[in-house]
Amino acid sequence: MKNVLVIGSTGQIGSDLTMALRKKYHQGTIVAGYIPSAAPTGDLLESGPAEIVNVLDGARIAELVDKYDIDTIYNLAALLSATAERLPLKAWEIQMDGLLNILEVAREKHVAVFTPSSIGSFGPDTPRDNTPQDTIQRPTSIYGVTKVATELLSDYYFHKYGVDTRSVRFPGLISWKTLPGGGTTDYAVEIYYAAVKGEEFVCPIAHGTYMDMMYMPDALKAAINIMEADPRYLHHRNSFNIASMSFDPEEIYEAIRKEIPTFKMRYEVDPARQAIADSWPNKMDDTCARKEWGWNPSYNLTSMTRDMLRHLREKLL
Ligand code: SER
Repeated sequence: MKNVLVIGSTGQIGSDLTMALRKKYHQGTIVAGYIPSAAPTGDLLESGPAEIVNVLDGARIAELVDKYDIDTIYNLAALLSATAERLPLKAWEIQMDGLLNILEVAREKHVAVFTPSSIGSFGPDTPRDNTPQDTIQRPTSIYGVTKVATELLSDYYFHKYGVDTRSVRFPGLISWKTLPGGGTTDYAVEIYYAAVKGEEFVCPIAHGTYMDMMYMPDALKAAINIMEADPRYLHHRNSFNIASMSFDPEEIYEAIRKEIPTFKMRYEVDPARQAIADSWPNKMDDTCARKEWGWNPSYNLTSMTRDMLRHLREKLL
């Protein structure tokens, strides 16, 4: 990995990943791809090239691959689960037509591709606890449908054309830099903002709802390490279960209360998000990722909570 195009570089993952890639590959060129309604600012804009690119414009993707001699594309353009449920056709267009554009460019120009999958690729028939790497994937959300199709299409391009596609199934991602938007797991980010601002948190997800979650530094490590892994040891490709922590709203609330004892939370469950959350696993088994490319997360709920609160205090207060 040397010259990288990040599509969706101003989103929750992209804004952190682009900077992490620039730090790691300073000999190469890391292009921050964005759409005009989400233009980069600050460090992201100043530390390297930034180019307008819409995932629906295959010709533009090809042009940028040529211009910067790109060898790897991180495809981070997506609508998250709750938004996708409101705009299913749009979600299909961005997630599927966009992916096909990228895979076609990758096939023609020999570029490696990372397109994240998610805990959302599972459904109510999937074993909930220690969800195996290879198991039933019959999601009931459109987001999940596109994620399973992404996994299959990515593997198809690898087997049929030899395109170097690899990915991970991300848990809910928690970060202090850029807010997610329209996801079912967003509550686990918003709760920290409320705590630092001294506000009561109104939780849209019910007590007892467990989901896999991950702190952004671990997610970045996964996204970079999977693309650097020795392909000889990759038995799987699209996509690997990765896990680091699983909690319900009560447990994250208690973790924050250890640091901010006056913090208050009440529940006002959002039925749309709750239905999605109820169809997802409690905790994935990530043995294959550990064995095949050495996945090993660094953060747990306690260490993430301390780090989040420290950064958010600096950012917000
Ligand atoms: N965080 C995503 C969502 O909640 C799941 O991958 O939609």
